[in-house]
Amino acid sequence: MSARGHAFGIDIGGSGVKGAVVNLDTGELAQERIKIATPQPSTPEAVAATVAELVAKADWDGPVGITLPAVVLDGVARTAANIDRGWIGTDARALFADALGGRQVTVLNDADAAGLAEDRYGAAREYAGSVLLLTFGTGIGSALIYRGALVPNTELGHMEVGGMETEHRAAASVKERRELSFAQWAAEVSTVLIALENLFWPNVIVAGGGISRDSDQWIPLLTNRTPVIPAHLRNTAGIVGAAMAVHDGITP
Ligand code: BGC
Repeated sequence: MSARGHAFGIDIGGSGVKGAVVNLDTGELAQERIKIATPQPSTPEAVAATVAELVAKADWDGPVGITLPAVVLDGVARTAANIDRGWIGTDARALFADALGGRQVTVLNDADAAGLAEDRYGAAREYAGSVLLLTFGTGIGSALIYRGALVPNTELGHMEVGGMETEHRAAASVKERRELSFAQWAAEVSTVLIALENLFWPNVIVAGGGISRDSDQWIPLLTNRTPVIPAHLRNTAGIVGAAMAVHDGITP
């Protein structure tokens, strides 16, 4: 199957590989999301086989956009967070295109995909100017978008604030590991947001990641200047953004 105005999006994470056909007129999934556990070890070859299995399951033969928790430059993974280190230096675009029978494939960073989706269809839709999306999970992912155009691979989770990488200070996993209350964790998040907004001056900050579901417990406690809004698309943002990227020819 393939269809006009539709593309297939796949979000590769440390625990699951998730994908679906996306209707790009609405930003909604056109079918139920398919999830397969990420193979362990998550080597490029093993993950490519899982991606091929997922696309075959969906009976899709059109273009496919794929996210990786990695810096991706011209289709090549340059880092690897929560996936096998064998990804570093791998031409992910060529690998997946090969596994999918030579069709059109785009590979991009997971947070970049989520940012594209939130900017066009989700939380930031109503905001003009520049949008900074941060995903709070095991690490912190970032996406910077100005009027629909993505500045790829910003990696703000690794920026040092007060001598500490922002994701070591304020990822959702830090809250869990250090058993912080929402108030304590929100103070760390505020420190990070103040540093980022003083450099980038976004019009709005979108907070994504699983912890954005509890946003009413911590967004009101933030003390930074820029409005912070919770992500709308939740666990489909990566899939939708990946589909958008391949459909629009965005190749970071
Ligand atoms: C990685 C990013 C990724 C983010 C979320 C960070 O540790 O450096 O590339 O987007 O985690 O998965």
